[in-house]
Amino acid sequence: MPPADDDAPIFLIGFMASGKTTVGRLLAERLDWAFVDLDKVVEEGAGKTVADIFAAEGEAGFRRRETEALREVAQRRKTVVATGGGAPCSDENMNAMLGAGRVLWLDVPAEEAVRRAGKASGRPLLDGAEDPVASARKLLDARRPFYERAHAGVETMDYSPNEIVNQLLQASMLIGAVAGQQSDDEGEDEANQ
Ligand code: S3P
Repeated sequence: MPPADDDAPIFLIGFMASGKTTVGRLLAERLDWAFVDLDKVVEEGAGKTVADIFAAEGEAGFRRRETEALREVAQRRKTVVATGGGAPCSDENMNAMLGAGRVLWLDVPAEEAVRRAGKASGRPLLDGAEDPVASARKLLDARRPFYERAHAGVETMDYSPNEIVNQLLQASMLIGAVAGQQSDDEGEDEANQ
């Protein structure tokens, strides 16, 4: 069960290029909450890009920084957190998120993630691969058991960011978060269409 506290953060998890940042910003706007991108917190702390951290410190160095950053953002209130694709893939990190807030999974097929990411995406785990789709599939299969521990998950394929936000708000309400927010916003949404 997620924490009863309505102000607890919402963590968006999912594979690279599943839309966590785009959707997270929109979700935060709809809730009138803050938005934070975990990769950006890591980059600011390190004073270098994710790609440079991987190059200088290896994946292990990046993961240490990511866990530290996650611990800090988990304390925030009324915040939507877009995590990196690998952030929930340790028991330590996943348990921390599940205990601190609501965890919502954006599901995307590996082929679509690679298509969206394109070449030179700045994601070291995709950019170097000889066969990006094959390695994305393998990585996603290994990560799925972690992603499946989310409080709720939504399909992203064939849905617009706004439709995904609607689904996330619905899922959040079902798991006890942000009660009352959706009905206000639904009216606005209809008015904007
Ligand atoms: C990673 C995903 C990236 C970034 C880093 C590692 C991963 O974030 O954290 O390149 O292990 O899947 P996005 O999911 O935002 O691309």
